[in-house]
Amino acid sequence: MKKYLVSLSMLAILAACGGNEEKKETSNAATTTTAAADDLSSNPDYVKGLELIGKSDCLTCHKVSDNLIGPSYKQVAEKYENTEENVTMLAGKIIKGGQGVWGQVPMTAHPTISEDDAKAMVKYIMLLKK
Ligand code: HEC
Repeated sequence: MKKYLVSLSMLAILAACGGNEEKKETSNAATTTTAAADDLSSNPDYVKGLELIGKSDCLTCHKVSDNLIGPSYKQVAEKYENTEENVTMLAGKIIKGGQGVWGQVPMTAHPTISEDDAKAMVKYIMLLKK
């Protein structure tokens, strides 16, 4: 009986330690995300691109982190280097539409979006790179 009690209390101690560690990890992760989000929300490229994307129809097909009809913006950001050339190329795809890079589903053309606005949208997307 005594033995049983001892091992039981040891289990309790183990469980307590484990629990603490987990808590620490989650709170660390939470602080990192908030810090990154704070940096981004003060970045003018981020604010402008997000606003333009919010006004257009992009979000019916794209989400930041999950695939919807199109790839998530994070995946797009991971795929391309943030160079002037890629920003121009992707802005062109937004205006003229695209197909075949991520799958057979096409992205509709957006002929009413100016090149400057399309570039601003791409700059926002590029900032979502990890
Ligand atoms: C009708 C659904 C739809 C809408 C609306 C849409 N997209 Fe897309 N988008 C897609 C699909 C599907 C793809 C993948 C195309 C491919 O495989 O080449 C894509 C691809 C992209 C890419 C990556 C292109 C590449 O060649 O890698 C970017 C950047 C993008 N979209 C941005 C936007 C922005 C910004 C808007 C709003 C102006 C928008 N999309 C609106 C469906 C959509």
